[in-house]
Parts: sequence; structure tokens; C-alpha cells
Amino acid sequence: MSDLRIDPPASEAELEACAELMAASEPWLTLRRDRATCLRLLRDPDRETYVAHLGDQLAGVLVLNLRGAFVGYLQAICLAPTFRGQGLGSRLIAFTEDRIFREHPNVFLCVSGFNPAARRLYERLGYTCIGELKDYVVQDQSEWLYRKTRGPLA
Ligand SMILES: CC(C)(COP(=O)(O)OP(=O)(O)OC[C@H]1O[C@@H](n2cnc3c(N)ncnc32)[C@H](O)[C@@H]1OP(=O)(O)O)[C@@H](O)C(=O)NCCC(=O)NCCS
Repeated sequence: MSDLRIDPPASEAELEACAELMAASEPWLTLRRDRATCLRLLRDPDRETYVAHLGDQLAGVLVLNLRGAFVGYLQAICLAPTFRGQGLGSRLIAFTEDRIFREHPNVFLCVSGFNPAARRLYERLGYTCIGELKDYVVQDQSEWLYRKTRGPLA
């Protein structure tokens, strides 16, 4: 695992592969975020997208939002299925925190109610559940807002 690299996307083909990864996986399937929607997010110049490689294999993708009202938002994190459950996600989240805490005292994220394993992971990593957003992305599914903080804004 020592050869994990996390970099901005190197090519359009890489972004397309990441969009396919997300669109074929939960939670994006249930949230009805198709390949085109995922690709738009990954290409959005107002976001920061990072691609993770292990050796020469694409392992996963991260999208961060460092603008807006609740600033410091981990908007998407997705590992390829074969790379899950081995600690890589925790390392991508550590990268996210290094990036966001350099400029802002909070990391926010949302996790779907039907994704209890991810919720458990965030709680283990020190995230506090702030509240429920009912019917936020799709009807009859809640998103749960989480926050990890280094202190107040002021
Ligand atoms: C969530 C995710 C980024 C975590 O990365 P990871 O490398 O699997 O996580 P780690 O190995 O660092 O930690 C393992 C923990 O993550 C949990 N986990 C969450 N989703 C998982 C999945 N789909 N497969 C395996 N483990 C998963 C494991 O259950 C484990 O926690 P547990 O021991 O309490 O069960 C990754 O599993 C993933 O890409 N899942 C699909 C997309 C997703 O759910 N994204 C989060 C949206 S908020």
C-alpha cells in the first residue's frame, strides 16, 4: 500500500473512468447519479478532484468543495470495488483532512442512510453526525450530515 498516489486527474480518459466507477456503485445508483452527472461533477472547475492510483491501477476518486456556505466539503469518495476494505478509504479521508484543514477548520460530508458501513467508518474517524436531511437527493432516502472540526471559524 506504500505506493498509493493521490493526484489531480491526468487526463480526460481518467475522469471518464472515475465517472464510470461512481455511476456503477452505490450510493450513486440509488441516488440516480448517472455517468454524465458524475462526469459533470468530476470536471467542475469549482471543485477539486483527485485520483488515487495504487501502482499503475486506478484505485479511486475524491471530489472536494472548498467554496460556499458550509465550506470544506467532501463531496464524493469512491474506491474501485477490489480496493475497498483495506484501509485505502481511511487514507483518502486523511488526505482530504490535510487539504481542507490547511484552509478551513471544518470538514463536512453527507452520507446516505442506506450506507451504514460508511457511516461507521466516518464515526470511527472522528466525524460527528449533525443531522438528517430527509428526502434530500431522492424521495424516501435521508442523507446524514457529518462534521469533523478543529475549532470555531472565528
Ligand atoms: C466508503 C469507502 C470510501 C471506504 O473506503 P475503504 O477503503 O473501503 O475503507 P477502509 O478500508 O479504510 O475502512 C473499512 C471500513 O469501511 C467500511 N466500508 C464502507 N463501505 C464499504 C464497502 N463498500 N466495501 C468494504 N468496506 C466498506 C467497512 O465496512 C469498514 O468498516 P467496518 O470495519 O466498520 O465494517 C469505500 O468502501 C467505497 O468507495 N465505498 C463505495 C462508495 C461509498 O460508499 N462512498 C461513500 C459515500 S459517503
